[in-house]
Amino acid sequence: MTYERSWATLPRMCGIVGYVGKRPALSIVLDGLRRLEYRGYDSAGVAVIDRDEVLTEKRAGKLANLEKALADRVDDGIAVGSTAIGHTRWATHGGPTDRNAHPHASGDGRIAVIHNGIIENFSRLRAEIEATGVEFTSDTDTECAAHLLAAEMRALRESGSPEGPQTLAEGMRRAVSRLEGAFTLLAVDVQTPDAVVAARRNSPLVVGRGAGENFLASDVSAFIEHTREAIELGQDQVVLITPGGIEITDFAGAPAAGKEFHIDWDASAAEKGGYDYFMLKEIAEQPQAIADTLLGRLSERGDIVLDEVRLTDQDLRDVDKVFIVACGTAYHAGMVAKYAIEHWTRIPCEVELASEFRYRDPVLDRSTLVVAVSQSGETMDTLMALRHAKQQKARVLAICNTNGSTIPRESDAVLYTHGGPEIAVASTKAFLTQLVACYLIGLHLAQVRGVMYADEVAAVVSRLRRTPDALRELLGKMEDVRALARDLKSSSTVLFIGRHVGYPVALEGALKLKELAYMHAEGFAAGELKHGPIALIDKGTPVVCVVPSPAGRGVMRDKVVSNIQEVRARGARTIVIAEQGDDGVVAYADHLIEVPRTPTLLAPLMTTVPLQILACEIAAARGHDVDQPRNLAKSVTVE
Ligand code: M6R
Repeated sequence: MTYERSWATLPRMCGIVGYVGKRPALSIVLDGLRRLEYRGYDSAGVAVIDRDEVLTEKRAGKLANLEKALADRVDDGIAVGSTAIGHTRWATHGGPTDRNAHPHASGDGRIAVIHNGIIENFSRLRAEIEATGVEFTSDTDTECAAHLLAAEMRALRESGSPEGPQTLAEGMRRAVSRLEGAFTLLAVDVQTPDAVVAARRNSPLVVGRGAGENFLASDVSAFIEHTREAIELGQDQVVLITPGGIEITDFAGAPAAGKEFHIDWDASAAEKGGYDYFMLKEIAEQPQAIADTLLGRLSERGDIVLDEVRLTDQDLRDVDKVFIVACGTAYHAGMVAKYAIEHWTRIPCEVELASEFRYRDPVLDRSTLVVAVSQSGETMDTLMALRHAKQQKARVLAICNTNGSTIPRESDAVLYTHGGPEIAVASTKAFLTQLVACYLIGLHLAQVRGVMYADEVAAVVSRLRRTPDALRELLGKMEDVRALARDLKSSSTVLFIGRHVGYPVALEGALKLKELAYMHAEGFAAGELKHGPIALIDKGTPVVCVVPSPAGRGVMRDKVVSNIQEVRARGARTIVIAEQGDDGVVAYADHLIEVPRTPTLLAPLMTTVPLQILACEIAAARGHDVDQPRNLAKSVTVE
């Protein structure tokens, strides 16, 4: 691996906003950045065109630092110009300092560029540009793009191209032809004051269509307040926005089209709505998110309805193996899905971390169905796994929450989770809706292959439809969990155990605690304890135990109860999550958290929720930023 490529192994996201119209652009862009701050929050900046100047301001730290700096500039053109770009960053290439914050300017200061992604041939380009006498003012790869664009614009002018938006778009096309890697680039040029140009390869970009104004952003939440008509750009496209127009071409300059769509949620869905944190709001939204994901899924004939299916029933009948690929919380959803898919379809199902998948040469062919699960639809590890699967001729079905994102676009079929925007970095409602989507896919496969009757499928769907109410009931009884969280806030470690579908729930509980509370936490298959991890148990060690329903396989539940006894015998403080009415566990629980009765395979829809709340409340009690935990960002768009 060369030095340049090694940057590709580092995560990098960033939020991007662009505006052109008649209104002062700064406040529109800042509002957009506020909504995108979840994508990166270690520095932020804006560039506004006012008459013959590009005015920039950028600051390390959260958006508030930038806003403070801008507060002193109310009287200058930055507050009034009507063309602007803005950026919120998650640093990799160059530390999170003022000088590395975006936008980056060309040497003559006439062009400003913001960027999400990684320019992989950055060091070669930088050496080449420096050899022409240009001095870099940052350590970023992005600055190369600003200098390249400026050079292309000079060359175009020298060769007689007229000033104007078309020339700016051509300059961008020429500049990006030099770049390797993943990028969304937005640029403004003082010579072309009423335009913003953008290019997209492997990083998200959507256009918002307004009346006499247009928008660009990493995702629609940045402009939803102003318009709900959007266009999602395709791969390798350049878009030019002016107050009255949106022109899309491919990188070669041929006219192209993006995918138009209407955003069916409104701005309030991206606000905290009275909750202290987005995470709490998103936890509370879970019953509705499940209901929405189930909406319209069962046709009158009793068939499961997917969103975009470019696979025939015969393709699905030919499937002889299912692989689920995903990362983090989505991977845990995949682990639960394995139990359901194998049980209902009798097709072997493997779950694999997307980041490992393609490196071990999995055996794939036309009869393999790869299910890619991703909230954002932009997770690079999952996207690369999907592409590898497609190269091997496997069929790919995406489960995704983000309409029109890259993963569903590149898949053969899609089932969207209608969870609404998930802003908190910690995934909550995305997880539950991913579970629902996985169940639906399992049922669909079973039905198409004739191993379940329509009425059997309908019976499971009807149980699923009862979960929102059960979940509301559960959410109404979480006071004890909050109190417990305050009690556990100083623990040095928390362990989680579970069996069957309770095992991925244990892993998910531990992941939440790690990412939010920065505490040591581990999840184990309860049966594995005695093979090593039980040595971790000391006097008072909190162990969260996820107990299966006694109404499922009684023996499984009894085994977990034995495991609880084992840890208690070694001094553990047990926090037991069990079904209402399972009185047999009471004697072994230092804290009992009861969840409504649910069929065994669907139980994670209940048992996960107290663990989300526990992690959220412990993190808050420890004084952490719940929505934006350190070192993390919402979409991880590089490998
Ligand atoms: O957008 P995705 O679902 O593909 O994201 C996958 C993971 O990065 C994500 O679930 C991550 O683990 C969450 N922060 C966990 O809460």
